[in-house]
Amino acid sequence: MASLERRVAIDAARAAGHLLKSELPGSRRIAYKGSPTNLVTEMDARAEELIVGRLAAAFPDDAVLGEERGAIAGRSGRRWIIDPLDGTTNYAHGLPTFAVSIGLETAKRVELGVVFDPNLDELFVAERGRGATVNDRPLTVSTTATLDESLLATGFPYNIRETKDNNLTEYAAFSVRARAVRRMGSAVLYLAWLATGRLDGYWELRLGPWDVAAGSLLVEEAGGRVTNFVGAVLDIDAPAIVASNGRIHDAVLAVLQAIRGGGPT
Ligand code: IPD
Ligand code: CA
Ligand code: CA
Repeated sequence: MASLERRVAIDAARAAGHLLKSELPGSRRIAYKGSPTNLVTEMDARAEELIVGRLAAAFPDDAVLGEERGAIAGRSGRRWIIDPLDGTTNYAHGLPTFAVSIGLETAKRVELGVVFDPNLDELFVAERGRGATVNDRPLTVSTTATLDESLLATGFPYNIRETKDNNLTEYAAFSVRARAVRRMGSAVLYLAWLATGRLDGYWELRLGPWDVAAGSLLVEEAGGRVTNFVGAVLDIDAPAIVASNGRIHDAVLAVLQAIRGGGPT
């Protein structure tokens, strides 16, 4: 990966993160995207404008997929995938657990992932085949070998009130099998924290490409494993994700399989 892409993505993620952090104490204009639990604030759009502006200026031929603006076509065969604010519900409540995520995909494979957490001032970067770092320190997933000793994380779909396939059965099952299950409201940070070894496993249904693009590369480059719910390759465009340190992966899949059978992956 040419260092220009890396540098521009890092600068954009940092700038957006600092903007979000500086505006956190203010009051928010909240709107709803289709369901009463799917929030968006004016800051999601402002952060995305900032990031897309920088990427489009530096790489005008690349496609861009931003969570709020949607897709911008490109002719280079590359696509930037952006979550300008992962953890919007936290943000709207003033809770400082959120991150900025920027992934670069080439020929359908994420090659570069940048995540910035402005609250802990942690910059996570991964390049395919070159490892992952946090603030320039190399990352390795945990060595936890059993589900029983694992700290897991999960999240719930925004249509939780409308569907029975809402992860509550899975949440209950893992809660009595793992050391604990956390839900902190940022898929991007779960993946980054898995890559650091702070978490051992993570699963979630029905995410967006922007939730997983950069974070899944962080996990893989830190030595972990990322699949869909049946252990096959993650579909980044419709991700149901299981990510882990690798050692507990089959145990996580087995619990999901026992609950869901061959249901939606
Ligand atoms: C959400 C967060 C949350 C997860 C949701 C995501 P957003 O992203 O990552 O943890 O449970 O599925 O959509 O809306 O805050 O960018
Ligand atoms: Ca998100
Ligand atoms: Ca978002």
